[in-house]
Amino acid sequence: MKIIIANDHAAVSIKKKLQIWLDKRGDTVVDLGVGTDTKADYPDKAIEATNLFLKGGYDYGILCCGTGIGVSITANKVRGIRCALPQNSYAAAMAIEHNNCQFIAFGGRIDYQEPPEDILDAFLSARYLGTERHQRRIDKITTAESIPFSLT
Ligand code: RB5
Repeated sequence: MKIIIANDHAAVSIKKKLQIWLDKRGDTVVDLGVGTDTKADYPDKAIEATNLFLKGGYDYGILCCGTGIGVSITANKVRGIRCALPQNSYAAAMAIEHNNCQFIAFGGRIDYQEPPEDILDAFLSARYLGTERHQRRIDKITTAESIPFSLT
């Protein structure tokens, strides 16, 4: 698979862990950084990664920040992108089977109850079910991307 990975300063270590695991599998990983703990703004990394993904040619993207929350919020604001922040392997598989997500987020400061590599494995091994009801729900998300902002 061809996979984009990007992270901020709070997630260098988890990014490297996931990258090593992907390298061992033989995936092609495009690492957008950062590679050090020099401060990086997570929205910049999420926007860079999702925009590159939308140019085409990639299977999935992985985003990491301290909690995974900031990068997932940002990615989900980019039209067409669905980014999961799964708690475990089950949720990671569902993110593909039901939600057809292209991105998965991880938190470098999160104490996961199972190895993050296993969560990523569940995500990459799953296949979108593509049934009418799941597609209908995803289509509703796509429609929501065009709803004008309103406080009422
Ligand atoms: C950086 O300190 C931290 O806020 C960021 O990595 C992320 O956790 C935000 O959601």
